Amino acid sequence: MTPTAPSAAASVRTTFDVEKVRRDFPILSERVHGKPLVYLDSANTSQKPQAVLDAMDDYYRHANANIHRATHLLSERATGLYEGARAKAAAFINAPDAKSIVLTKGTTDGINLVAQSYGRSMLRAGDEVVISWLEHHSNIVPWQMLCEQTGAVLRIVPIDDRGEIDVEQYAALLSPRTRLVAMSHVSNALGTINPVREIIEQAHARGAVVLIDGAQAVPHLVVDVRALDCDFYVFSSHKMFGPTGVGVLYGRRPLLEAMPPYQGGGDMIASVTFEKTLYNAVPYKFEAGTPNIGGVAGFGAAIDYLMAIDRDAALAHEDAVLEYATARVREIRGARIIGEARHKTGVLSFLLEGVHPHDAGTILDREGVAVRTGQHCAQPVMDRYGVTATIRASLGIYNTREEIDILVNALQRVREVFA
Ligand SMILES: Cc1ncc(COP(=O)(O)O)c(C=O)c1O
Repeated sequence: MTPTAPSAAASVRTTFDVEKVRRDFPILSERVHGKPLVYLDSANTSQKPQAVLDAMDDYYRHANANIHRATHLLSERATGLYEGARAKAAAFINAPDAKSIVLTKGTTDGINLVAQSYGRSMLRAGDEVVISWLEHHSNIVPWQMLCEQTGAVLRIVPIDDRGEIDVEQYAALLSPRTRLVAMSHVSNALGTINPVREIIEQAHARGAVVLIDGAQAVPHLVVDVRALDCDFYVFSSHKMFGPTGVGVLYGRRPLLEAMPPYQGGGDMIASVTFEKTLYNAVPYKFEAGTPNIGGVAGFGAAIDYLMAIDRDAALAHEDAVLEYATARVREIRGARIIGEARHKTGVLSFLLEGVHPHDAGTILDREGVAVRTGQHCAQPVMDRYGVTATIRASLGIYNTREEIDILVNALQRVREVFA
């Protein structure tokens, strides 16, 4: 199947009107503890526009059936929505065709699939897997497990004080034994945008394949897997305004064709006898069992939503809000920003001297401000900075400068409490 353009019904917005965008997200008018919600936790999970809620509701009201299996109309509708979302996902990241899109449960699921299928069949003792200090636990632990299983060795690229990958040290770490490089496109803990094009180019020059963890990139950046020339690209629907429990593994077709299945079960087979099972074609070979069909319908709507927005204008808006937030937090007495990379998106991690991030988070919550506090599933990043936790304000397309002012006032209140 070839990728389709975003639904013709979705009107293309050529400018970015944040107030209009905010009206698309019903939860943003919620009050918490009697205060208007200021949601600054989108890197954790984003909020969902009405179009996504409607798509899931419509699915259950008008199309609920299993896919690929029955001849009745509801199954046809469900299959259409499911395969339609696959085609939309291909268009969204400019994949060459929908067959290179495996629908998964999310980023974690996609990374584990590659580790256990590609990694386990291709890696031998002494081979090397390269990751960085910036990675989310999802892009560390599956590789550690693979190394334990195969005898391969994990190599870690250091980061500098700004929170940027040291590209020279990365190049020096690559060796003739490097088989796989797995790097985040954008760091969830610090917001650093990694130079993935360069990372991929250098890995390819050494004959290694590259997986890019795009969980934090797709809500902000326009991603083009063909321009990046990556071998695998993984992301989650729930961080890009879609529902939880759905994600994408993009893989180069020849790699996917050569990989063994990850899990066995229904839908991933062509024929089963007790003597021999023949597997289904790519991508179905990797999609065992009944998937999250309603979630995939919502994911399709989330892609339509994002593709109908002027992404450059949305990013410019987000960048301006991030810049404003950085400057305002810097003004607070005792504030220390963790992660000051030259290229960042969506995330502001910081500490307030003398205040535990969890205490700050609790007071912020009482003021209606939702942030994440803790190690953000990135303990090595925290270790790198010698801290146990940070306060992380993370942005979506719907956040405003006024909300940053509310955050800063609430942080001043934290300061007063701990004075
Ligand atoms: C960079 C990064 N990678 C992977 C993940 C894991 O995503 P999921 O929990 O949706 O599988 C996250 C989630 O925060 C992330 O930020």
